[in-house]
Amino acid sequence: MSNKETSAKKSFDIKLFSRVFSYTKPYRGIFIVSVLSAILISAFSVLTPSLVGRLIDEAITQQNAELLFQLIITMAAVLFGEVFFQLLFTYTANLLGESIIKDLRTHLFSRMIRFRMNYFDKSSVGILVTRAVSDMQKIGEIFSQGFFMIIADVLKMLVVATVMLVMNWKLALLVFSIMPLILYATRWFQKSMKVAFVEVRAQIAALNSFVQERLAGIRVLQLFHREEEEAKAFRAINLKHQDAWLRTVWYNSIFFAIAELLASITVGLIVWYGGIQNVGGISPERYGDIFTFILLSSLLFRPLRHIADKFNVLQMGMVAAGRVFAILDDTGQLEEEGDTELDEVQGKVAFKDVVFAYDPEKPVLRGVNFNIEPGQCIAVVGATGAGKSTLINLLNRFYEIDKGAIEIDDLDIRQMTLKGLRAHISVVLQDVFLFADTIEKNITLGNPDITLDAVIEAAKAIGVHEFIEALPGGYHFEINERGSTLSSGQRQLISFLRAYVANPSILVLDEATSSIDTYAEQLIQRATEKITEGRTSIIIAHRLATVQKADVILVMDQGQVVERGSHEELLSKKGMYYQLYQAQFAVLSEA
Ligand SMILES: Nc1ncnc2c1ncn2[C@@H]1O[C@H](COP(=O)(O)OP(=O)(O)O)[C@@H](O)[C@H]1O
Ligand SMILES: [Mg+2]
Repeated sequence: MSNKETSAKKSFDIKLFSRVFSYTKPYRGIFIVSVLSAILISAFSVLTPSLVGRLIDEAITQQNAELLFQLIITMAAVLFGEVFFQLLFTYTANLLGESIIKDLRTHLFSRMIRFRMNYFDKSSVGILVTRAVSDMQKIGEIFSQGFFMIIADVLKMLVVATVMLVMNWKLALLVFSIMPLILYATRWFQKSMKVAFVEVRAQIAALNSFVQERLAGIRVLQLFHREEEEAKAFRAINLKHQDAWLRTVWYNSIFFAIAELLASITVGLIVWYGGIQNVGGISPERYGDIFTFILLSSLLFRPLRHIADKFNVLQMGMVAAGRVFAILDDTGQLEEEGDTELDEVQGKVAFKDVVFAYDPEKPVLRGVNFNIEPGQCIAVVGATGAGKSTLINLLNRFYEIDKGAIEIDDLDIRQMTLKGLRAHISVVLQDVFLFADTIEKNITLGNPDITLDAVIEAAKAIGVHEFIEALPGGYHFEINERGSTLSSGQRQLISFLRAYVANPSILVLDEATSSIDTYAEQLIQRATEKITEGRTSIIIAHRLATVQKADVILVMDQGQVVERGSHEELLSKKGMYYQLYQAQFAVLSEA
């Protein structure tokens, strides 16, 4: 890494920090309580050592029982105050951190889910999840563990150091001379731990992926009797994991031993120079000061051991904040909306010279033209990759077209609000996505306007009611993650129902009948007929059997509509459709 990069990484970004800080605004009260308690903790913390000094010199040495009792009561009160403010401080600092990340996370999530599709094409889901979950946690730690704790520690150390200097400056300087050694030991410890933790993380990742993969492939593993070998391999990985952790334990043991040693040396020095050499002139009547000094020096050293850790937490939080803000600032990724909202749509659709590419180098649609009259059913066929699904992506405005226009009822879709546009279109995608929720929720998607009765009625209409009723719990059947408890035909039927209850003016089926069995296909065939009845529909299909009834069939090839007409017209043309038909027919008759 170049010097420039290192320094850029190390320097503290004030602008970024004040932006993170601006999120504390709604929590001013908590913020103030937190800062005040930090100040009070440091004030209280120096009281106990001074009281101990007085206790020895004035109460014990002078045999003053009354004063002894008074001092003990005072010390108990001070202790109580310190504990109270410590508790208040820890709680408010964490409350502040958690409140801020709650706000920031909600903000981030609602921004993310409005991004255009091309954003998701180029971003990994894993990274986005990290931003929303663990980066957020790190931002919260700026407040709960980083910034405030540093302020509190520095404040405490300043107060302690001042008190020590005022009491006996020579002895104070002697104690301060040990500080560089502690700082040096801390630096060494941190560097070693950083290296050790890289190894630990690598070993954890190795363990995770090993276990995850073996469990995912458990059937193969058991079918081929791999249990013993896999267990052996696991033991080896586990051993490495143990070694990595033990290394951190080793560094910890050394460091804390050294820290204790240095603390004891300090105590020795205080006793020797203060008590025996009389540095700074501690007279025998004030030997209590020596105890005060010993206690103060431990108050000075303890935060030193952890302050570098806290700076790390702060730095990591700032890096995370930078990443999160980069997503929030990415307004170029938001959908641009028109402002027209159509209450009712007849269902006329027109593509006019539509040109589009996902990637500017690779044209996908090269001037597509077609019209669909209200209530008409058109079918789109063509080879994989011809651009059929892209038509749907554009009709929904998942992507913006480069040239031309797409119109619904003669209105350019760019002039409509996205919500208004999508409310009139339902799409059954080839890959059905089901949420880990009940069947009912998967169908209504939480829309309160759709009642269970409406769902049942729709299910009866397209002939899927029996299948859903047969599941345990019927419409309340819990679909597990990725819907793997249902067959692909069943999932497809659920997505049909989802499209149907939305009662759209325009319906799109994208390869909805591929990869399912004959029985499900019959159901879906029936469902398709019902669901397309009386509304504009676009059916994309490979199986030509499903498209023969369409009013118009469009044949797409390499981003263009190359043929159009009814099934009979296209067959008699003996062009591309005819070839596709022949090819499928040949496969069918061979089978
Ligand atoms: N999100 C995407 N990003 C980049 N290229 C894509 C994306 N989706 C599809 N493509 C490309 O666009 C072309 C047309 O794809 P698509 O419309 O899905 O074809 P079809 O549905 O006809 O099989 C293909 O070459 C495909 O690789
Ligand atoms: Mg497709």
